[in-house]
Amino acid sequence: MKIAIGCDHGGIVLKDAVIRAITDLGMEYEDFGTYTDASVDYPDYAEKVGRSVAAGEADRGVLLCGTGIGISIAANKIKGIRAAHVTDAFQAEMCRAHNDANVLAMGGRVNSPEDAYNFTKIFLTTAFQGGRHLRRVEKISALEK
Ligand code: RB5
Repeated sequence: MKIAIGCDHGGIVLKDAVIRAITDLGMEYEDFGTYTDASVDYPDYAEKVGRSVAAGEADRGVLLCGTGIGISIAANKIKGIRAAHVTDAFQAEMCRAHNDANVLAMGGRVNSPEDAYNFTKIFLTTAFQGGRHLRRVEKISALEK
């Protein structure tokens, strides 16, 4: 599985932990930046990662900003993206099991690198349950038309 990752200056503190989780799982990643703590605009990174996932170039995405909020709002503007802003392990599991989220968003001013490592692993290893949840996810997709 290939994972697209992106962050702004507020989320970069979590990037190493996310990369470690991905590589510990034996997965590949593409890092769309940012690469320093200089101030940047999070929608630019949401767009790069969101377009990569929506195009099928990456299987899933991980986005990081200060809160996880702005970068998830931006990513969710891209057709085909279901970005989940996650702050605990239960949300990391449920966004996959029930919502078939394809992008995980977290905040560098909200959660620790240890949290980010654990949430990323859960997000990347939890399967969508389908069934009644598929009907609901299809209704989300219908809202894009
Ligand atoms: C940048 O200061 C901050 O606004 C951004 O990282 C994010 O928290 C926005 O939602």
